[in-house]
Amino acid sequence: MTDARGEMDGPAIEVSGLSRSFGPLVALDSVDLTIARGAVFGLLGPNGAGKTTTVRILNGVLDPTSVTKLEVLGRDLRREAEAVRPQVGVQTDTNLYERLSARENLASFGRLYGMDTPSSRSRADELLEMFGLTGRGGERVERFSKGMKQKLLIARALVARPRLVYLDEPTAGLDPEASHELMTYITRVSREAHTTFFITSHRLDEMEGVCTGVAVLDGGRIRAAGPPEQVARAAVPRVRVRVTPAAGSPMTAADLSALPGVKEVLCLDGGFAADLIEEGAVPSFVRGVVALPFDLLGVAEEPPTLQEAYLALVGNHQAPAERQAV
Ligand SMILES: Nc1ncnc2c1ncn2[C@@H]1O[C@H](COP(=O)(O)OP(=O)(O)OP(=O)(O)O)[C@@H](O)[C@H]1O
Ligand SMILES: [Mg+2]
Repeated sequence: MTDARGEMDGPAIEVSGLSRSFGPLVALDSVDLTIARGAVFGLLGPNGAGKTTTVRILNGVLDPTSVTKLEVLGRDLRREAEAVRPQVGVQTDTNLYERLSARENLASFGRLYGMDTPSSRSRADELLEMFGLTGRGGERVERFSKGMKQKLLIARALVARPRLVYLDEPTAGLDPEASHELMTYITRVSREAHTTFFITSHRLDEMEGVCTGVAVLDGGRIRAAGPPEQVARAAVPRVRVRVTPAAGSPMTAADLSALPGVKEVLCLDGGFAADLIEEGAVPSFVRGVVALPFDLLGVAEEPPTLQEAYLALVGNHQAPAERQAV
């Protein structure tokens, strides 16, 4: 199948049975992943989980030890890596040309990807502007700060407007504003240009609002995968409703505990969190809260966060003693 641009259809990435060992160490153990085109996919996991190893294999710079299916942009990566490479951008910790300027770094990379000189220059300027580096574009990269170099590595991955972009911990070293702008850019480009992003990160807060799909990798194995909300709900089986009474309200936890379907009520800053026995108990609980003789600022279901899911999926591999010894 081909799409409107005459390109291969189907998922951006389809991998099954992917394993990689380094001597006796099993870094990836039978990993399966399917990532739709235009998705913003987040591969999450602790240090040493196998994230960078996955990126390196999918980018064709590292061979798997064994694999059943390894397709990127509709092509078998083992046989057609050369056809895939020009359509892919990657940001890893590879070096920049320290003696060239930021602008030259970007433009020369664009030319390497087949862009003509004027388009590679204007694209370089566009990316420098996006990352707030316009004023420093003519300076040699060797003078750049760590975060500025990181911005440039990301910009370089984006120069040739690739159809698939791998970003390995892109926001490490970026200031909050730059991280936010990058995430906004990723969301926009995935929607408008149908570009697929494959991002590894430890910043679960940043990933939550941006990723259309996530997978949690730990010890080389996928522990959970799917849309972030689905992963969170499956990993954290609680149904919580946040109740915020008006300031000075005499509402107590006991008022809420007495309502139907309530398992436990927690007192929080500015209100309460009621954990219910099941999803089906939410409407009658909310009705019960509203019928109480107290002024309210809000009653809302509070779905589990990706952060909570991550800790439930990954944290339980640690012994309790280790967790306390901080
Ligand atoms: N070239 C290599 N030789 C030997 N072991 C390696 C090599 N590359 C990776 N490993 C091992 O494979 C495992 C996974 O490493 P990887 O770099 O993929 O983890 P990661 O999830 O990216 O971690 P981090 O969050 O720290 O970047 C680790 O135990 C690592 O030591
Ligand atoms: Mg890594």
